[in-house]
Amino acid sequence: MHMKKLALLLSRSAVPILGVILLMSCEKAEIRTKITTRTVTDTLHLDPVLVAEGKEVFRYDTFGDEVFWSDVMHIDKAILGEVNGGYGAGVSPATALAVGLKVDAEALPAEVVAGIQSGAIDLNDPASTVELLRLNSVLGVMGNFDEDGDLSSVGITCAFCHSTVDNSFSAGIGKRLDGYPNRDLNVGVIISLSDNLQALADLLHVDEPTVNTVLNGWGPGRYNAVLNMDGVALTPDGQVASNMIPAAFGLQGVNLTTYSGWGDMVYWNAYVGVTQMRGQGNFFDPRLNDATHYPIAVENNLGNVIHSPDRVTPILPALQAYQLSIPAPIPAEGSYDAEAAEHGMELFNGTAQCATCHVPPTFTDSGHNLHTAEEIGIDDFEASRSPTGMYRTTPLRGLSLRMQGGLYHDGRFQSLNEVIDHYNDHFDLQLTADDKYDLVEYLKSI
Ligand code: HEC
Ligand code: HEC
Repeated sequence: MHMKKLALLLSRSAVPILGVILLMSCEKAEIRTKITTRTVTDTLHLDPVLVAEGKEVFRYDTFGDEVFWSDVMHIDKAILGEVNGGYGAGVSPATALAVGLKVDAEALPAEVVAGIQSGAIDLNDPASTVELLRLNSVLGVMGNFDEDGDLSSVGITCAFCHSTVDNSFSAGIGKRLDGYPNRDLNVGVIISLSDNLQALADLLHVDEPTVNTVLNGWGPGRYNAVLNMDGVALTPDGQVASNMIPAAFGLQGVNLTTYSGWGDMVYWNAYVGVTQMRGQGNFFDPRLNDATHYPIAVENNLGNVIHSPDRVTPILPALQAYQLSIPAPIPAEGSYDAEAAEHGMELFNGTAQCATCHVPPTFTDSGHNLHTAEEIGIDDFEASRSPTGMYRTTPLRGLSLRMQGGLYHDGRFQSLNEVIDHYNDHFDLQLTADDKYDLVEYLKSI
């Protein structure tokens, strides 16, 4: 019999003979629990040289995507503003911070720090943003400068969406935290600064105001990474579709990545590097040659992109090594109720059935880590946009440190309580108020 069915049967069964097996299964859960606490940390041995190389790539490599962000979308000119030779109001540091861009305090020389503190550096002047770019201090945004020292183009890196800062200097300015999703970053609003939204309108076969509405509808910490494949901008009930930027940490031992399991980490890095960031590299996925599901991908041959030189394929091993090296952050002691968390762990691994999918220590399924929408009790809109048609069991480590903005792929649940209420209803778990509290405290501790 299927293990999950067995567990389900056992947890609900009152048949005495099964009670013995139930006892045995409890013992098993206890063993698993011990293993959990012993091996949670990321222990894979990685080549430090490769990891260091991957870190550079993750933070600073645009793969030549300036061709899109500057040559097509003119984001460099939007940053400069009309007074500095671009167009529009320009992007001051204050505006940049307001749309969620982050500044690496460690990249700022002492005189710049002093200038910001004293007000000598005007945070409302777009020219100051250009200086921050020159210092290579804006996370995930790389500026290129011509011989005269003028900004000539910008491109983006992985760190744009998958890094934030610890706010140690001030809000939005601090030490880099790679792998954390930037849940303040309003990607849509940043793209909408472009004076050439027509390029996206042409791609998607809609008008410019529609593009603008969609981009402004994503919201902070969200992005739609399949839009330029299937052209699907709205959910069936007419809401703008977007997914929460996920963590890029704690991924050791995790098979399929992304909310709907498009592929493993290496697959997705190539997907995003080439088809989303628009880096100059190769990407191959014949699953996209399906005009019914992916009309925009077919029109633009996105399932078979070839560039010479290929700036993505050669960096995939280093990028993989770096991401695997980023441990899930460990929640601070005192940030949760330890006693409750202990009981919560028993529930998680036992009667609440969470560990039938979120298997510790990876907290995703071992193997083909996908489930149907029906299994988890939600609609299949996002799953059906993926070639898998399913949802991937989210790895949960570091959860409490990256859940700003909402939980589940589209942020539909605002709190851990809401998630647990959902499972309680869906699986008819009959959790008491205390159980729910304990489960939440456990989730905050992992
Ligand atoms: C514009 C924002 C953005 C950029 C830039 C970006 N990503 Fe992502 N990333 C996302 C979003 C959104 C998802 C979730 C996609 C989905 O499932 O719908 C994601 C998913 C992922 C995942 C899967 C995580 C998991 O839980 O399975 C990994 C790994 C990842 N990105 C790594 C990278 C790397 C490496 C780069 C640079 C090559 C990069 N990303 C660039 C937004 C971004
Ligand atoms: C049948 C498999 C399955 C079971 C059982 C299950 N989950 Fe999940 N869980 C999933 C999948 C799949 C997702 C991704 C859903 C999405 O993103 O829309 C998920 C997502 C989550 C999330 C959101 C993570 C995030 O970053 O958004 C939390 C929290 C969570 N589960 C906790 C639990 C808890 C607690 C239990 C037990 C009460 C549980 N899960 C039981 C499969 C399961």
